[in-house]
Amino acid sequence: MSAQIIDGKTISAKLLDRIQSRISARLVEGKRAPCLAVVLIGADPASAIYVRNKRLACEKVGIESISHDLPASTSEADLLALIRQLNDNEHVDGILVQSPLPAHINEDVLIEHIDVSKDVDGFHPYNIGRLAVRQPTLRSCTPFGVIKLLEASNIDPKGLDAVIVGVSNHVGRPMALELLLAGCTTTSCHRHTKDLAGHIQRADLVVAAAGKAGLIKGEWIKPGAIVIDIGINRLADGTLSGDVDFVRAKERASFITPVPGGVGPMTVATLMENTLFALELKEARK
Ligand code: GUN
Repeated sequence: MSAQIIDGKTISAKLLDRIQSRISARLVEGKRAPCLAVVLIGADPASAIYVRNKRLACEKVGIESISHDLPASTSEADLLALIRQLNDNEHVDGILVQSPLPAHINEDVLIEHIDVSKDVDGFHPYNIGRLAVRQPTLRSCTPFGVIKLLEASNIDPKGLDAVIVGVSNHVGRPMALELLLAGCTTTSCHRHTKDLAGHIQRADLVVAAAGKAGLIKGEWIKPGAIVIDIGINRLADGTLSGDVDFVRAKERASFITPVPGGVGPMTVATLMENTLFALELKEARK
């Protein structure tokens, strides 16, 4: 068996086209375009690439983006002051602060400062809580993107035994909540899990979000399982790799995402979707 490759580039391009059409329709109706404030602190090369892709996606779909590129020395107080200013700015619908942040900035404090209705990353405890109680509003971009990949591949998650590897606040935890909402029986694995291989071997759906290249061996994959790889790891030779041994897992899985070109492009597309949704929510409240 050789798995069907889930092509995130094509699926995200279709999603972006639909968002672009919705925004064009707004303009025809005399409504304004959504506006996303993108904050980049420091000069991390990977972050600079991610932020560039997010700004390009805004341009493509017709979202206005406002850039705040700050030096790595920016104090937490100055960053929080900027966030308050963006919160108060009626024209700004979404606020994105690219992580990782410099070590002197407390990310939890930052996230709690962002107005929950502008938290287009879906990282605020309020928005994570909404997902936990089955009333999602702004949903964390990467897990939401995985749900959209499954939908686009006609995979019904209901009743699947899903194993999520990784329990980060931004990805692993909201991923488990998304899959629970979608009707999976969920297991979250982490550094203290006793038998990772055993859990993976029983899974109908494996979602890898540990950030460790080669952590998940191809021979652990149950024949016919669905494999979603969120890991993005740069190898010594400069190439990118996921957390799953793709070559061998592909021979056992029914569906698998590649790295790059799987989940990654979806994160940008769901950010665009969230920014449009944030504006729609604001209008609905008026
Ligand atoms: N850094 C890597 N991925 C992300 C993301 O989705 N959002 C933010 N804010 N920072 C990131």
